[in-house]
Amino acid sequence: MNILVTGGAGYIGAHTVVELQNAGHEVVVIDNLSNSSENMLRQVSKITGKKVTFHKVDIRDSQALDEIMKLYWFDCCVHFAGLKAVGESVMKPLAYYQNNVAGTLTLLEALSRHGCANLIFSSSATVYGQPKELPITEACPTGGITNPYGWTKCMIEQILMDLYRAEPAWNVALLRYFNPAGAHESGLIGERPRGIPTNLMPYIARVAAGRLPELQVFGNDYDTGDGTGVRDYIHVVDLALGHVKALRVMEQKGGLAVYNLGRGEGCSVLEMVHAFEQVNEVVVPYVIKARRPGDVAACYADPSKAERELGWKARLSIEDMCRSAWQWQKNQGKGSD
Ligand code: NAD
Ligand code: UD1
Repeated sequence: MNILVTGGAGYIGAHTVVELQNAGHEVVVIDNLSNSSENMLRQVSKITGKKVTFHKVDIRDSQALDEIMKLYWFDCCVHFAGLKAVGESVMKPLAYYQNNVAGTLTLLEALSRHGCANLIFSSSATVYGQPKELPITEACPTGGITNPYGWTKCMIEQILMDLYRAEPAWNVALLRYFNPAGAHESGLIGERPRGIPTNLMPYIARVAAGRLPELQVFGNDYDTGDGTGVRDYIHVVDLALGHVKALRVMEQKGGLAVYNLGRGEGCSVLEMVHAFEQVNEVVVPYVIKARRPGDVAACYADPSKAERELGWKARLSIEDMCRSAWQWQKNQGKGSD
């Protein structure tokens, strides 16, 4: 199939481009490079041995989208483009609503104009807010979100559900990612947070590399096994493969569907620290700090719907995530700080 990948130069997008190309799809990437560089796509080419067609385009630029869609015919759009820093979204809510929500509307209108009505959207477990049940199924209510970033995901899901109701010719897959982590086994692509990371895995990797003095563990008084926060970490390559499966099922069955993409297993902050230390034979000094505002105690998926309907199941382990994240960290030059 011919696939338009928005945000394809980013962390999850680049890993997905690899798997789409490996599965034989033709891919065109658009990205405004606000949080990535074209080099990521050169690395993708090294992995797949195929050229990645790239255009520097902002999804809010309707005219530029028209030009791309006149140039190529797309069977489906896999939509990753968006801003994703939770803390920044609290400081700059308008920028987040403008980029993520308005950007998606502009993209959807362009796709409509050019006859492409198939979309896979990068949603997040953040839409469940304070989860009402564990493990979280897709039927769990959404809302009660504590930051504008999370609301952009919820709003875009609503827009896509309304669009599908009004125009059933659309086919939409809402993929709710749990906590993506790790990097490609080649060591060529991975996550490149700007400045000091806010997510756990890249922070641990920087501490292990001696670039940050210690990890701050946000709270050890939660109602969890060891008192630290529990999350459902999923290897980014497994996540990427989930998109390839979703694409195939969308082509066969169509309609609107929502899937949790997680491993279905909780891992605490300290379990992750110890796994990272053990697998990579490094030391990760840490201190216990107060809880981080907005954090929930535990969040993990029931991913059985994706297994049943997509034939997808995460295969890679916490150890695989730790190993590949460390490999990627070691491959980074000083520029990654
Ligand atoms: P990323 O920042 O690495 O990738 C996003 C890409 O989108 C970047 O390359 C960026 O330059 C591009 N972009 C941003 N705004 C754009 C615009 N207006 N026009 C064109 N390109 C634009 O982030 P990621 O971790 O790869 O996340 C991809 C998607 O998955 C995002 O929508 C994110 O919200 C979602 N998601 C990520 C996580 C996570 O933990 N990484 C979890 C759940 C959902
Ligand atoms: C966060 C976002 C979520 C987003 C996801 C992926 C919040 C409230 N949620 O999820 O919307 O989709 O990132 O980008 O920000 N931790 C530490 N020390 C650290 C960093 C993290 O102890 O330096 C702990 C956290 O308290 C949490 C766990 O590690 O228990 C995971 O944190 P993180 O990687 O930031 O992901 P989430 O908070 O789950």
